[in-house]
Amino acid sequence: MTQHNTPTDTNQDHLFQTPADGDFRFDDKTAAVFDDMISRSVPMYTEIQRMTGEIAADFARPRTSLFDLGCATGTSLVELDPVIDPTVRFVGVDSSQEMLDKARQKLAACPSGRAFDLVVADLHQTQVVENASVAVMNLTLQFIRPLYRERVIRNIFQGLNGQGCLILVEKLTLGDSLFNRLFIHYYYNMKKRQGYSESEIAHKREALENVLIPYRPEENHELLTTAGFRHVEEFFRWYNFSGLIAVK
Ligand SMILES: C[S@@+](CC[C@H](N)C(=O)[O-])C[C@H]1O[C@@H](n2cnc3c(N)ncnc32)[C@H](O)[C@@H]1O
Repeated sequence: MTQHNTPTDTNQDHLFQTPADGDFRFDDKTAAVFDDMISRSVPMYTEIQRMTGEIAADFARPRTSLFDLGCATGTSLVELDPVIDPTVRFVGVDSSQEMLDKARQKLAACPSGRAFDLVVADLHQTQVVENASVAVMNLTLQFIRPLYRERVIRNIFQGLNGQGCLILVEKLTLGDSLFNRLFIHYYYNMKKRQGYSESEIAHKREALENVLIPYRPEENHELLTTAGFRHVEEFFRWYNFSGLIAVK
């Protein structure tokens, strides 16, 4: 595995030690600590990246594009680089310029010299995917307003070539309130094991409340089949986190 930013005092996530002054934003402060934040906030993040690479390598086709939608600081693209055919063009898309600035630094340091584009775009408004054999959308659909999700997934489907695949990782909510409560409890236990305090967890939960809207597993599955994907399967599950593969 590629070594990412080693957390130091300056890039460790302490953002929510005090209450947030509004909704969670992917701004310069978040970008500065993002790699530490996500690796401590998403269960099995490193394994999710590895699996994303393993699957993408089987679907990527020469002289097509691979899109990472919500690429943030480019961690997935950096992990994908050594395992994907060198003629595949990488396109990272994100609405946060600060995130893309980090991604550019990390990708420029990759030894392959692969062609890549980093596009600042709001997925609510843009159809960016074209000539793609692989689209990756990890932990980003949950930030798209529910009203737009069907259209976003349909746009991805239309931009994929035949046999192309979408890898979609999402935080979940569950219809069964008992399991929903339990799985959130286990998730917060994980965050505590990762060094977050009770108050940091509570402050971040409040900041994310109106911004991160998780779907139930069956809602995500239906989004994909309704868009036209012929094969849909869960490849990863950890309590309230799920990874889906969908093939056109
Ligand atoms: C949790 S991060 C994604 C993490 C990344 N995929 C990974 O695996 O490391 C979500 C990203 O989605 C981006 N994002 C949120 N809403 C967006 C939108 N409407 N259009 C484009 N990007 C968006 C954010 O800026 C952020 O970088």
